Amino acid sequence: MIPLVPEEASTFAGSVDALAWALIGLSAIGFVLVTTLLVTFSIRFRAQPRRGPTNVADANLERNPHGIALEVAWSIIPFVIFISAFAWGATLFVTMRRPPDNALQVFAVGKRWMWKTQHLEGKREINSLHVPVGQPVRVTLTSEDVIHSFFVPAFRVKQDAVPGRYTDLWFEAIRPGRYHLFCAEYCGSQHSRMIGEVVALEPAEYQSWLAGEAGAAVSMADAGRDLFTQLGCPTCHLPAAGAARGPDLVGLFGKTVHLTDGREIVVDESYVRNAILDPASQVVAGYQPIMPTYKGLVSEEGLLQLIAYIKSLQAAAGTNAASPPADRANASPEAAGGAG
Ligand code: CUA
Repeated sequence: MIPLVPEEASTFAGSVDALAWALIGLSAIGFVLVTTLLVTFSIRFRAQPRRGPTNVADANLERNPHGIALEVAWSIIPFVIFISAFAWGATLFVTMRRPPDNALQVFAVGKRWMWKTQHLEGKREINSLHVPVGQPVRVTLTSEDVIHSFFVPAFRVKQDAVPGRYTDLWFEAIRPGRYHLFCAEYCGSQHSRMIGEVVALEPAEYQSWLAGEAGAAVSMADAGRDLFTQLGCPTCHLPAAGAARGPDLVGLFGKTVHLTDGREIVVDESYVRNAILDPASQVVAGYQPIMPTYKGLVSEEGLLQLIAYIKSLQAAAGTNAASPPADRANASPEAAGGAG
């Protein structure tokens, strides 16, 4: 037994369905109205061969005293209906495109042919994503190879995962359960097998799932710090570690910086990603373009970890604003992981 529509398991699933049904209903009414009139008029006003060039329909039209009123009515009424449908759809679209500030952040990387997901606390999954019920969840997506599309029908969300950039979607599951996760963009011969599930758990269960296998998971920020050190980034980017040949990253995330070409840019996930892979393209004013590219040296998941670490430096700066640079350079695990 295949249901007409998938289960409604997110806060906006009901709204999406209501809009879809309204549009289908509107189209059905339009279809019935036009078809009925078409058939009725074809019969009622069919050509009368013996009357010569002028038929009954033309004669009626010429005599119609309501011509203007009728035309105005059939222009204004559909206009109001369609603009209302647009306003309704646009409102819902904007809601769905803006993750709330308190959303739980998770990451998903598409790769032929699997979804690799990662939680800030360090848990990683393949073709599976565990989320808590009753809390907005923001999924930041990217791809290692081609365009994939993250699609959870029960939540009525779908978003492309595009190589070379970050996109995101959000949802709030309303009921525990296991929901299909599809790739909805043809990505090669095994596209149809790029499937998984989103497991929605009660918050307490989610916490114990996160904590499972004690000690096994290293938080994304901590993994990012190790990678940061391993790649030699502190030499230029943490003031105590060497000459300030690059911008100090402590507290930088979320700020606006001036670039050498005069542009202003907000330091967000995309900017950090680009600064690592193509450093010469967006150099902060006052610095030389001496940083080498790290393209090919860091995986997409590694980039997300570096970003998580750089964000955590922000949190550390907020709480330890007075601490000397020497302490900040050694960003302790508590400070680095404290963001979660
Ligand atoms: Cu990935 Cu289709």
